[in-house]
Amino acid sequence: MGDQHDLRDRGDVERLVRAFYGRAFADPLLGPIFTDVARMDLEHHLPIMCDFWETVLFGAGSYRRNPFALHEALDRRAPLGAAEFGRWLELWTSTVDDGFAGEAAERAKAQARRIAASMQRRLAGGSGSALGTIGTRERLARAGEIDELDRG
Ligand code: HEM
Repeated sequence: MGDQHDLRDRGDVERLVRAFYGRAFADPLLGPIFTDVARMDLEHHLPIMCDFWETVLFGAGSYRRNPFALHEALDRRAPLGAAEFGRWLELWTSTVDDGFAGEAAERAKAQARRIAASMQRRLAGGSGSALGTIGTRERLARAGEIDELDRG
C-alpha cells in the first residue's frame, strides 16, 4: 500500500479493509473459509466491514449488526480456534503496519486483538461458566492474545 500514513477517514478504512481481505482470501488457512465455506461475496461485504471499522475506530455508529452471531454460525461449519484467530490477527496487524501509522492505526490493531480474544473466548464456550471464562482468559493472556486479564 505504499508509505505509511495516518488512518483518518472512510477512504483510508476502505483501502485497509480491501488490502486485508486480499491477504485473507489468499491465505492457505483462512482463504478457504472465506471462499469455500462462507462463499463470501467481497464486494457485498466491503461496505459492511467499512461500517464496522469506522464505528470501532471513529464512533461512526454506522454498524449495527451482530458479528458474533455470524462467527458463531461460521464456527459450526469451520471451527475457528487459536490457529485461525492467530492468523487473522497476524494478517490484520501486518496490513495495518504496511499502510498506516499513528494513533488510529494503533487503535485498529489493539481493538482487533481485543475483539478477536473476546470472540475466541465466547466460541470456546467460556461465556456460560465463570471458571471456564477465567481459564480461557488466563490462557489467552499467557498466549499474549489479550493485554491484561481485566480487559476485553
Ligand atoms: C478466525 C478468524 C476469522 C474468520 C475466519 C472470519 C471470517 C469471516 C467470514 C467468513 C465472514 C462473513 C460471514 C458471512 O456473512 O457469511 C465474516 C464477517 C465479519 N467478520 Fe470475521 N472472521 C474472523 C475474525 C474476525 C475478527 C477478529 C473480527 C473483528 C475484529 C471480524 C469481523 C467481522 C465482521 C465485522 C464481519 C461482518 C459481519 C456482518 O455481516 O455484520 N472477524 N468473518
